[in-house]
Amino acid sequence: MALSTVIDPTVHLSPVTARVTDLPIERGEGSYLYTTDGRRLIDFVAGVAVHALGHCHPAVVRAVREQAGRLMHLCANYGYYPPLVQLAATLARLAPPPLDTAFFGNSGAEAIEGAIKLARHATGRPALIAFKGAFHGRTMGAGSLTASGSRYREGYEPLLGSVYHATYPYPLRSPLGPDPARVVAGALAELDSLFELVVSPKTVAAIVVEPVMGEGGYVPAPPGFLEGLRERCDRHGMLLVFDEIQTGIGRTGAMFACQRYGVTPDVLVLGKALGFGLPISAVVASRALHETWPAGKHGSTFGGNPVAAAAGLAGLAVIEAEGLVERARELGDELAARLRALADRFPIIGEVRNLGLMIGVEFVGPDGSPNTEAVQRILRYALEHGVLMVGCGTHRNVIRFMTALNIPRHVLDAGLEVFEAAVAHAEG
Ligand SMILES: Cc1ncc(COP(=O)(O)O)c(C=O)c1O
Repeated sequence: MALSTVIDPTVHLSPVTARVTDLPIERGEGSYLYTTDGRRLIDFVAGVAVHALGHCHPAVVRAVREQAGRLMHLCANYGYYPPLVQLAATLARLAPPPLDTAFFGNSGAEAIEGAIKLARHATGRPALIAFKGAFHGRTMGAGSLTASGSRYREGYEPLLGSVYHATYPYPLRSPLGPDPARVVAGALAELDSLFELVVSPKTVAAIVVEPVMGEGGYVPAPPGFLEGLRERCDRHGMLLVFDEIQTGIGRTGAMFACQRYGVTPDVLVLGKALGFGLPISAVVASRALHETWPAGKHGSTFGGNPVAAAAGLAGLAVIEAEGLVERARELGDELAARLRALADRFPIIGEVRNLGLMIGVEFVGPDGSPNTEAVQRILRYALEHGVLMVGCGTHRNVIRFMTALNIPRHVLDAGLEVFEAAVAHAEG
């Protein structure tokens, strides 16, 4: 039965949720979504980088069912339950040393709040550095770091104090030109100038950064940038926080993007795919850092919920058993190469960027300016032809590919054919 014949969906749900589509979705299976009126869509959004294994992976569903029948909720303050203990141990094994200890929350923004509190508490310092274009969530603390659009902040000020935004190196849009090394040098010099003129590094608790800027345009940090941040954090006693809420869990071709860069943060923040569809997030750091956080200084009723933790464990086991991290790296590079070939044919594609299966296709006008209209046309065309895709970028002129890591080839190919036709349609 169609949802709309039961009840008007627009009446009781808050209009604050920006609806990209009004699709009546009944179920998902793998990389397909099915509507209540019998349509099937190819899903290139994956619940916004959540469904690393596609919808309703049997191993995840089984784990959820079993755990739901055993213990659905306790509250982590009231005892130890196996899925959470095992998930923490699994993350400790998968994350680079010395990141071996986790605090669990429910959402990405909540984990960012936790990371802010941990950094301020551990260092005794107030200030935070984030980057223009960054998205870290919408709660008041995380929203204070977010700078991917003033609309996220407008109407909510005053936000958290002592937050400073520096420039993220984005070679395609940098006034310094497209040379990544030059752009990185410029961004680091600007940061040093911020420290000299505006905020003493002695008062900075942490630098918070996405190793691949997500919402802001799918821009992988160019070589040398994260190393430069690491060096400054070490020099000034600041913590380096990687927001890997979108980059984590295999998407970039390493379990965590920090491993692809060979730069270890002090705090690794995870969310989205960690629960393979159930809400769970984590603030991962060294034992020593977590031990600066006395019992009771932070907490959460539902954080690390047993069912979500069981889903996370089951999903991670599939990712490892099926070599999906390696697949993300190979398939991502192959897909990006195919998209670059498309860019050679269609000048509206200004750049194809990727780190593994985190792929951004940026659309430009004849003068190189952001082409938001082309993206709107392409997304609409794709949806009309059965493919759900999503944009990003501070000018909404980038289309991001964030398929499931295990998307079958024929589904990927079918979706790509529609995308290619959509680009031709927009160019024409
Ligand atoms: C990099 C990054 N950080 C934080 C968040 C916020 O996560 P949540 O929506 O679960 O609060 C997101 C969500 O898109 C994100 O991409």
